[in-house]
Amino acid sequence: MDLPPKASPRMIGHNSSDKNLARMIRVDHAGEHGAVQIYRGQLAVLGHTASARTIRHMEEQEQAHLKTFDALMVEQGVRPTVFSPVWHVAGFALGAVTALMGEKAAMACTAAVEEVIDQHYASQVAALEEDGAPAAALKETIEAFRADEIEHRDTAIAHGAEQTPGYGLLSGAIKAGCRLAIRLSERF
Ligand SMILES: [Fe+2]
Ligand SMILES: [Fe+2]
Repeated sequence: MDLPPKASPRMIGHNSSDKNLARMIRVDHAGEHGAVQIYRGQLAVLGHTASARTIRHMEEQEQAHLKTFDALMVEQGVRPTVFSPVWHVAGFALGAVTALMGEKAAMACTAAVEEVIDQHYASQVAALEEDGAPAAALKETIEAFRADEIEHRDTAIAHGAEQTPGYGLLSGAIKAGCRLAIRLSERF
């Protein structure tokens, strides 16, 4: 991952498109926080298996993403979502429970989550394109992270995610949960 450009100076003021930027930073921070927790939950169960190295690498990338959004929130004066403590626990639980179902189920979880994040980041990039210069740095950051998320999804599929028994059902449920979490984190 290339280091994204620094998004300062302050880009958020008080108009409605600024409110959208604040929402974007809030929800992305929540998502990266959740992602770190999911991979930590997986590692708590699968830390000594063949998948551990792969999962640890993804977790490290999520930590770098989270750190960037941590800094952006401070710089831009954006508060975290009120659901932050919920995502902390739910993310870890999702990672651990799917890992308990097996390495392939853990990968199915990763593929589902990363697919939703990929789509989410793609729609943010499209929205930021219309915002022009003030949003350019944030757009570049999100594009760089999106490339990592796509890589995570592809890695999970390469590790047999789709061979999980009940893959369609499991994947559908996780994606629905992620989309709900995104909507809640944007607004609250
Ligand atoms: Fe990420
Ligand atoms: Fe990811």
